[in-house]
Amino acid sequence: MTTPLLAVEDLVVEYPVHGGKFRAVDGVGFTVERGGSLAIVGESGCGKSTIARSLVRLLRPTEGRILLDGTDIATLPERRLRPLRRRVQMVFQDPYGSLDPHLTAEETVAEPLRLAGVTSKAERARRAAELIDQVGLPSSALHRRPGEFSGGQRQRIGIARALASDPELLVCDEATSALDVSVQAQVLRLLRDLQAERQLAYIVISHNLGVVREISSEVMVMRGGRVVESGLTETVLAGPAEPYTRALRRAALDPTTMRGRKPRALVSAIVSASDPEATSATAPEPATPS
Ligand SMILES: Nc1ncnc2c1ncn2[C@@H]1O[C@H](COP(=O)(O)OP(=O)(O)OP(=O)(O)O)[C@@H](O)[C@H]1O
Ligand SMILES: [Mg+2]
Repeated sequence: MTTPLLAVEDLVVEYPVHGGKFRAVDGVGFTVERGGSLAIVGESGCGKSTIARSLVRLLRPTEGRILLDGTDIATLPERRLRPLRRRVQMVFQDPYGSLDPHLTAEETVAEPLRLAGVTSKAERARRAAELIDQVGLPSSALHRRPGEFSGGQRQRIGIARALASDPELLVCDEATSALDVSVQAQVLRLLRDLQAERQLAYIVISHNLGVVREISSEVMVMRGGRVVESGLTETVLAGPAEPYTRALRRAALDPTTMRGRKPRALVSAIVSASDPEATSATAPEPATPS
């Protein structure tokens, strides 16, 4: 048996609250193969972003293992973690808050290259220009700052920055949910193309079944810090047992109407799946901003 790119085992994350502890993630496990994908869905506050932050070690899990290519990064000290950090990158939910407003697009994308040890400034500029082109932005974007871009363009810069360190796994935490629907579809297509081109693996966190269907063949449904359902996306969505999945599914169009349609039809399906009216029955307000 080959080692999966990522194997998460019995992950537990507790946050300190009022002198006690709150268990936000409670014994979660899953694997992602090289070039594979996994969508994580679940109601607000169920622990999705906490998992994402653990995977890139923005936080240190309380228990469990996060095996990246067989190496447990869950408890690795920073010194030993550093060479592994470039391999797992995150694209954040908020394309407004996650970019440094003082850096140009070129500087934003070149920075991880510098940290990765590309010492030549000319080489960094060349690679940044290549990445900006790859995410579908014109070269005129290179010298502009985040404030001069639209949300979708900013999101593309975030993706270019994440790709700069040539990661093997990209963790997208609601990476498209703040975007206009047509831009959302474009960014999703971009991610899918990059997956094919680079053998990149993805974890996509989303509330939106249209997004999940578009981007991932496997899905994991969470509730209250635990996995309540997982498997092939089509299978889970075809016969969901979990009320949250049922509610999400009711909110989306029938899957048979999605197949073989032109992008416009897909876009309207994504709009329909993200209709807040349709999911509000089971999804409470966000507990904390993530
Ligand atoms: N720093 C923190 N301190 C204490 N509790 C936290 C902290 N961060 C998150 N939580 C709690 O942990 C739980 C999981 O939060 P998390 O951000 O992982 O949820 P989520 O599934 O990403 O939700 P959303 O869909 O709203 O983004 C929530 O109940 C949240 O209130
Ligand atoms: Mg979140």
